[in-house]
Amino acid sequence: MNQAVRLLLAASLALPATLLAQTNAYPPSEVTTQNTTLLVDIDHRPATSLDGEWHTLVDPYGNGIYDFHHHVKARGYFMDAKPQPGDEYDFSTSPTLKVPGDWNTQRPNLFYYEGPIWYEKDFEHTSKPNTRTFIHFGAANYRSYVWVNTNKVCEHEGGFTPFDCDITGVVRDGHNFVVVVVDNSRIPDGVPTLQTDWWNYGGLHRDVSVVDVPEQFIDDYDLHLVRTADEASTNRTVEGYVHVEGAAAGTAVTVSIPELHASVQATTDANARAAITLPIKSLTLWSPDAPKLYKVELTAGSGATEDKLEDDMGFRTVEARGTEILLNGKPIFLRGVSIHAEAPYRTGRAYSEKDVDTLLGWCKELGCNFARLAHYPHDQRMTRAADRLGILIWSEIPDYWALQFDNPVVLQKSKQQMREMIRRDRDKASVILWSVANETPNTEARTKYLTAMANYARELDPTRLVTAALLVRTVKSPSGPVKVVDDPLGAALDVIGTNEYIGWYDGPIDSIDKTTWDIHYQKPLIMSEWGGGARFGNHAKPGEKPTPWTEEYQAEIYRHQIPMLNKIPQLRGTTPWVLMDFRSPMRTLPGKEDNFNRKGLISDQGQKKEAFYILQKAYKDKTLGKAE
Ligand code: GCU
Repeated sequence: MNQAVRLLLAASLALPATLLAQTNAYPPSEVTTQNTTLLVDIDHRPATSLDGEWHTLVDPYGNGIYDFHHHVKARGYFMDAKPQPGDEYDFSTSPTLKVPGDWNTQRPNLFYYEGPIWYEKDFEHTSKPNTRTFIHFGAANYRSYVWVNTNKVCEHEGGFTPFDCDITGVVRDGHNFVVVVVDNSRIPDGVPTLQTDWWNYGGLHRDVSVVDVPEQFIDDYDLHLVRTADEASTNRTVEGYVHVEGAAAGTAVTVSIPELHASVQATTDANARAAITLPIKSLTLWSPDAPKLYKVELTAGSGATEDKLEDDMGFRTVEARGTEILLNGKPIFLRGVSIHAEAPYRTGRAYSEKDVDTLLGWCKELGCNFARLAHYPHDQRMTRAADRLGILIWSEIPDYWALQFDNPVVLQKSKQQMREMIRRDRDKASVILWSVANETPNTEARTKYLTAMANYARELDPTRLVTAALLVRTVKSPSGPVKVVDDPLGAALDVIGTNEYIGWYDGPIDSIDKTTWDIHYQKPLIMSEWGGGARFGNHAKPGEKPTPWTEEYQAEIYRHQIPMLNKIPQLRGTTPWVLMDFRSPMRTLPGKEDNFNRKGLISDQGQKKEAFYILQKAYKDKTLGKAE
């Protein structure tokens, strides 16, 4: 059956063509995301949580979709049918998985599983007049297809950004059921692609809920502080827009900050967008030292159809000037660390308040004012907590390593993830940097692709800085290695990120002392990765030279890296790799790695390694880095 017929058949049955793709070694790829939207600030809306136990069917053969001749079934698992010959499955008696949660750490036989798993959940609903109903997914890795009451409602590709599906037309009063098949198969035209140095945790790994909103509702807004010449002034202006989905032109919108007695009225234009200009007096600027958040109230429409939203927002400005990063007009040095969304202690994909408080609590303990959330958008709880705790954030989409940079469809996937990341977190004061990529090959196609991504990020959000983590090249010199930062992608960035592992992958520890840097950009530079591995508790023998994987060796790398980093005039931040050990299928060294990347300053069981204290001291004494 050729591709065209297969797609036609899939379309006629509203079934996911891409699940078909698995049989034919990747026919021309396509963006899978359809019929989704993204409701900003949804965590402040009343909702019916669908978190908890979901019945599941593990379906490596796609039996939920295909018959024995690999034709698409009309009665797939989305029917949630009662068992009978031909419908040989039964969600109601099938084992469950917790949502939110990855499946790999919930069942030993799913630890390495990559493929489709079907989830089913019953829920009750009572429709209210003049409302629309959405089902919200905080994120699901990697491709998801959603049915409500046997009706296909949407599909989404991308494992780390939220999506919302309109179920108004299919939800009914009383009993309802939702069936979601999530497929975490890695695909070459995916974002990320086939190889990642992190575990491919699959499933509904973030919150799921049902949300009712008025027919006209606020689905997106941008409220940011306008930069001024006198950044110290507390009499300022907040500007932006409020988008009211479904609203006619002329619909009334208000934005208020009661604590500051500030309020403004506006009306929507033909695109359902209301432009906002809100003068403010005696504003306390948000900063790591004073992470002041204000209750912001937004309304749209009036009477029975009025939509009301609240948000907790801080107001600050960020910009680059020459080689400096200015926060509220003042030069700042970003004392940071890189973090994977790996859950401390229990391991698996992090999502909970407890996970977030532990990870960011360790950041604070380390003396950080900054964190790089690698290599994908983390749970919204992370950026909310960073807003509260005063931790500046680098947020990134997984344009990681060797994507298909010459494939226009893949570019659409990256753009979709960038759009979703920015839309979810554009009103978070803590987020100052959008990263378009990590360690990508220096090819023309790559540079063209990521330059387009950098410009797209700026188009979506001109108030923040755009960066990427670049590879550096080495040239030999009589005095020692010279690290050259001249990746052409740097030209498209506001802030240069560079990764280096001198003393680990790249030469002995003492080569760090002889290393100099040749940086071809007069822009702020963040050393976005550096460090080395150590198994907690693995120590050098007394009197013996520390060897790799011992805590002493890792600590030694930090001791030598700090003075080297301080020699880089453009250095405006560091995020060593990495806060906590995290799982990776690339790390198989028995007794040392055991499927964990061990470059953490802290083990996955919360044990601090010697290097933790080296960095903590440098951050607390402010002996690493200069703001100007
Ligand atoms: C790379 C990469 C990380 C990886 C790290 C490592 O730089 O960006 O994702 O985990 O190196 O090798 O430990």
